[in-house]
Amino acid sequence: MDKIIRQAVEDLAKSKKAIALTGAGISVESNIPPFRGKGGIWEKFDPMEYAHIDAFLKDPVKVWNALLKDMKEIIDNARPNDGHLGLARLEQMGILKTVITQNVDGLHQMAGNTDVIEFHGNFAWHYCMECNNRIKTKDVDLSDIPPRCACGGIYRPECVFFGEMIPPLNLMRSRQVSSTCDLMLVIGTSAIVQPAALMPIIAKQSGAKVIEINPEQTPLTGSVSDYIITSKAGEAINRIMAELQTLL
Ligand code: OAD
Repeated sequence: MDKIIRQAVEDLAKSKKAIALTGAGISVESNIPPFRGKGGIWEKFDPMEYAHIDAFLKDPVKVWNALLKDMKEIIDNARPNDGHLGLARLEQMGILKTVITQNVDGLHQMAGNTDVIEFHGNFAWHYCMECNNRIKTKDVDLSDIPPRCACGGIYRPECVFFGEMIPPLNLMRSRQVSSTCDLMLVIGTSAIVQPAALMPIIAKQSGAKVIEINPEQTPLTGSVSDYIITSKAGEAINRIMAELQTLL
């Protein structure tokens, strides 16, 4: 593992346009559960029954009670961990240009990254489905479920439900930065939800190196990834940062 990290970091230090694609795994050390695998949200809930837009429109009370209330509580209290902080440091060092994240928790921005593409939208804001009024999630009043706007419309988060389009500009920019980067860090994603999972493939096909950080194997491992660092995101990033110091 030491040798793999060393080689990966040598590539990272040489890169001129590194980007990262992150998934739920990078926020696990901030106590936000992942979707798949042990302790994952989809172990308890069928995503088609709770995270599909049709399910939300059919029964917003059920989805708010089962999923969104807890999500608000967890995200309201979450703080960046070493993984997020390391990526922010890499941006300050001029190495990392952009983070594409499938997460809606806002922790990359809180850590200090300034160019974050929120592929699946965000949970920082809600809007009224009747009048489009926007409200900060921390100001959403949960004393009545579903929470409602003054006009009577139901609030929904700005994140993407299954069955909804990826915000077109986010998709376009993600494709653009993936096809022009020279290195992609792929951290904590099961790499099975499309079209996000295409980004490492686009990067690889465009000649970029792909460094994967994940304690488990994914469909990218052994085919798309040049290096796989099989540790938790925070630990792996700390080791990368320490190794980087010895090279610069
Ligand atoms: P998943 O929950 O599918 O996958 C999390 C990945 O993180 C797995 O591959 C784990 O092995 C890995 N992992 C777990 N703990 C880790 C740690 N401490 N450090 C590093 N990796 C760790 O999450 P995503 O791939 O992000 O979409 O899921 C993609 C999309 O599916 C989400 O954005 C969400 C979900 O349904 C929507 O809601 C539209």
